[in-house]
Amino acid sequence: MKLALWLKNSGTSARELAVRVETTQATISRLKNGHALPSLELAGRIAEATGGAVTANDFLDPAPSERPGNGLAGARILLIISGGIAAYKSLDLIRRLKERDCELRVILTRASQEFITPLSVGALAGAAPFTDLFDARTEFDVGHIRLARECECIVVAPATADLMAKIAGGHAGDLATAVLLATDAPILLAPAMNPHMWANPATRRNVARLAQDGVSFIGPAEGEMAESGEAGTGRMSEVPEILRAIENLIGHSGGEPLKGKHVIVTSGPTHEPIDPVRYIANRSSGKQGHAIASAAARAGARVTLMTGPVEIPDPLGVETLHVATAADMLKAVEEALPADIAIFAAAVADWRMTAPADQKLKKKPGAQEMTLDLVQNPDILKLVARGHKRPGLVVGFAAETQDVVENAKAKRRAKGCDWILANDVTHARGVMGGEKNAVHLVMEDKTEDWPEMTKQQVAEKLIVRVAEHLAHAKAGAE
Ligand SMILES: Cc1cc2nc3c(=O)[nH]c(=O)nc-3n(C[C@H](O)[C@H](O)[C@H](O)COP(=O)(O)O)c2cc1C
Repeated sequence: MKLALWLKNSGTSARELAVRVETTQATISRLKNGHALPSLELAGRIAEATGGAVTANDFLDPAPSERPGNGLAGARILLIISGGIAAYKSLDLIRRLKERDCELRVILTRASQEFITPLSVGALAGAAPFTDLFDARTEFDVGHIRLARECECIVVAPATADLMAKIAGGHAGDLATAVLLATDAPILLAPAMNPHMWANPATRRNVARLAQDGVSFIGPAEGEMAESGEAGTGRMSEVPEILRAIENLIGHSGGEPLKGKHVIVTSGPTHEPIDPVRYIANRSSGKQGHAIASAAARAGARVTLMTGPVEIPDPLGVETLHVATAADMLKAVEEALPADIAIFAAAVADWRMTAPADQKLKKKPGAQEMTLDLVQNPDILKLVARGHKRPGLVVGFAAETQDVVENAKAKRRAKGCDWILANDVTHARGVMGGEKNAVHLVMEDKTEDWPEMTKQQVAEKLIVRVAEHLAHAKAGAE
């Protein structure tokens, strides 16, 4: 299949291509796996985005494929493989997760490396597995906490009796247990062991304790064991069953957490006219704001996006209003209210001309200098955060070039918003217009420092935080 090959060779993810061709990641996954044909229009956009490497004809005779590829696309999964004989099945699990376009990280326990090698796991997963807690290359920024936090769910397959005992007891003596103890993400265990080990009262106690702690299980199944002559309950569940359990788990925890909510998002720069041909602008591309609108829509929200002039396409499933100036943006925001959540990611110009010229300004003979008479633009974030139609959650952005967090904290207080996402937009960092962002989420009682990630990942993480905030607020009200 040419599209699959192109994605692999060019190192482009299905999600990146989806953004470029204005479609969904699921559509690209279906096309990639030969499960659908694109419209002529979409095929044209794909041909353009791939520089002509994948054309409409390439879709007409897709190679047969047994891959269903859907619900797990883009899911961030951490797979822990512990030292059971069923570890060989986890190699297939890795393949199937990669086929479904999951963002996969793998941890191997020391014992598991007696059964499978880091080399084979790395080759299948497309990235080296993590193996050591005390690894200077990954722990310079306390990498095990990052592993614990950056995933949507943790799957332990196979889960040995030994590892389950350690998790139940709160141990953190190696990378796998430290990550499992540090995570907030849902955990799915696929136990695999000798039937006598499974039936042992100690294992029964550990399983009961883990279930009480909210850990999910798939299996074990009944039948013949990998060890010859052994049968009973203890076989690791088959890979398709584990995949379904992961889908259920992520569906339960993720689902459409913003369903029924109205989210407004601003994005891009504003253009403030100087005269009919010139304007004041900035380098904002709109990529971050658009990604947030898109992530909110995927989370089930009704999204209204107010965007300044940008070169990128409107996000799918989002009502997008195009504006030019700060005044236009404010008007559009006011008209879009009320909303449950407002996220102001636009880089609104602070200043506009007191009186834009009707005619093109001419150079004055002999004059070396020119002064523009500027007046402050309305502060959209502050007006909404302090206004009578204030949404329940108001999030602003702070683009700073120095003292990023301190300035953001001051801005949060001054504007009256709930959260500020602060980023360092020093030219050298390439944030404005670039693909990546490293932000700090400044809240009333704490600040989270997020590692550098793509703007899509920042958007998804922000929407997860928003959904968590709503869930807590709801639980508090009940
Ligand atoms: C050949 C062999 C097969 C094993 N299979 C299993 C198994 O299927 N399930 C299990 O719980 N333990 C099994 N063990 C024991 C574990 O490897 C041992 O308890 C180990 O400490 C588990 O470490 P880990 O949980 O950190 O990976 C097996 C050991 C050997 C030598």
